[in-house]
Amino acid sequence: MIYSRIAGTGSYLPQKVVTNFDLEKIVDTSDEWIRSRTGIERRHVAADGETTVDLAEHAARRALEAAGLAPGDVDFIAFGTTTPDLVFPNCGVLLQQRRGCRGGPAVSVETACAGFMYALSIADKYVRCGESKRALVIGAETLSRITDWSDRATAVLFADGAGAVVLEPSATPGVLSTHLHADGQYKDMLYCAVGVSKGFTGKLAITMTGSEVFKVAVTKLGETVDEALAANGLDRSALDWLVPHQANIRIIQATARKLDIPMERVIVTVQEHGNTSAASVPLALDVAVRDGRIRRGELLLLEAFGGGFTWGSALVRY
Ligand code: COA
Repeated sequence: MIYSRIAGTGSYLPQKVVTNFDLEKIVDTSDEWIRSRTGIERRHVAADGETTVDLAEHAARRALEAAGLAPGDVDFIAFGTTTPDLVFPNCGVLLQQRRGCRGGPAVSVETACAGFMYALSIADKYVRCGESKRALVIGAETLSRITDWSDRATAVLFADGAGAVVLEPSATPGVLSTHLHADGQYKDMLYCAVGVSKGFTGKLAITMTGSEVFKVAVTKLGETVDEALAANGLDRSALDWLVPHQANIRIIQATARKLDIPMERVIVTVQEHGNTSAASVPLALDVAVRDGRIRRGELLLLEAFGGGFTWGSALVRY
């Protein structure tokens, strides 16, 4: 039996910081409202001309360095993003060209905030079946480009960033299992109405029914965490860390409460960067690995939820 294991992690946030106080000057909101409803204190926004692949390139370099690998070692790229640089080539291919790891397959997955979970699941299967020896898994976004900065309901939430992991084969886990879901009946609760083959006007903006998203997110995330544990015959108490999607502190707390996981065992970084969509789980993972909280051998539950709705989890022995 071959498993995939995380050989290295990396992340990157663009330099420009937008605080809640900065937003107070743009829309009718307050630092107090944003903090109390979302836990967010600041977010990072890409500079003019800085793209999703630019952010991903930094995160990928750091993940490869952490794994002790060179770009040429990578033979598969799975890239989760909803804000690609181009319609095509996909972001995986653009990153491959930048990093000089040409030749292997490179795919981009467009499942909103669950993009990294989907990319991780796909890459895990490539490694498990022996088709990839070194897979680069990315979650990266420039959501600021599809945020309507005059809409206070969404402008305070979304932001930019990138995270990456390198997967390699291992005789022992590694990634124990991944669990993906989608339910298109919820498509109208969180979406970007404009696409290439529909209604293209050049203006993009996220539309969201926040309170309904909140309820479904907490339910589905709780279910998928239990699903991952049940699939491996494990109890919640076996978990060392929950690494949740960093959308909103109240969703994170509600999910942790529902699962009876103390907040001391939950990685929270949302205050630093807001909701970076597909980037948020690998960003939080990398922060906690680098600050020494997450250690080799510990059991992690990664989970994310996004527009569609799409959601998923992964149980990982780090
Ligand atoms: N600043 C100040 N007031 C705001 C505001 C803002 N940025 N955004 C909304 N409000 C106002 C509303 O207009 C409303 O005012 P009213 O009572 O006078 O009508 C009031 O705050 C409450 O709005 P509501 O939408 O009910 O707030 P909420 O408690 O549900 O919090 C969210 C809003 C968005 C923070 C919350 O619903 C949420 O976190 N949803 C999940 C969103 C998410 O994570 N999406 C991504 C998933 S991947």
